[in-house]
Amino acid sequence: MHENLDHLGLEAMDVVNLRWGGLSEPTLDSIGEPFAALADLQREGYIKHLGLSTVSAEQIKEAQSIAPVVCVQNFYNLAHRVDDDLIDDLAAQGIAYVPYFPLGGFSPLQAGELHAVAARLDATPMAVALAWLLQRSPNILLIPGTSSVAHLRENVAGAGLNLSEDDVRELETIGN
Ligand SMILES: NC(=O)c1ccc[n+]([C@@H]2O[C@H](COP(=O)([O-])OP(=O)(O)OC[C@H]3O[C@@H](n4cnc5c(N)ncnc54)[C@H](OP(=O)(O)O)[C@@H]3O)[C@@H](O)[C@H]2O)c1
Repeated sequence: MHENLDHLGLEAMDVVNLRWGGLSEPTLDSIGEPFAALADLQREGYIKHLGLSTVSAEQIKEAQSIAPVVCVQNFYNLAHRVDDDLIDDLAAQGIAYVPYFPLGGFSPLQAGELHAVAARLDATPMAVALAWLLQRSPNILLIPGTSSVAHLRENVAGAGLNLSEDDVRELETIGN
């Protein structure tokens, strides 16, 4: 932690996530001990806010019994919707949900429905996938990854797209 702060030239981190679980799914164990260690660093002033990554609803509750949680970063996208209920629950609590692999990660999303909606909106399929996430819930924050400036431009354009109810209905057949 101190080395990180020195490298960043900061006195405190704005947010630190406890990264738990497997590659893409939560594990069933307790996160109490490592989260309490981060809560100690928060009390000491080195961290302003705490988050969690790759965790279950139960683990989030366990963490909340130790210190407030401001954000959760889990695997979620149009085709992987295990966290649907969790997102709604976090939204009701005012907690940000930050989907990782929003574009499918190592296997970028591919679906005829994405192409069809993108063609109607004169946008790219990836921009549509990101627009769907932004419209899915007000607590969703996006962190799509790219090594290409052209893709970055396409992805940013997703923030300006307005999906109609018909578009959303068509896209949501992907996850079913
Ligand atoms: N907490 C965790 O455990 C965890 C796990 C995984 C990832 N993450 C984080 O989540 C964020 C996103 O993850 P990610 O980058 O792995 O997955 P992602 O955003 O779902 O997908 C990135 C992939 O999509 C491609 N892509 C991006 N924009 C595109 C476009 N407009 N058209 C076509 N292809 C496009 C990228 O290739 P190009 O480079 O060619 O654009 C790259 O292969 C990152 O910040 C990552 O660090 C966190």
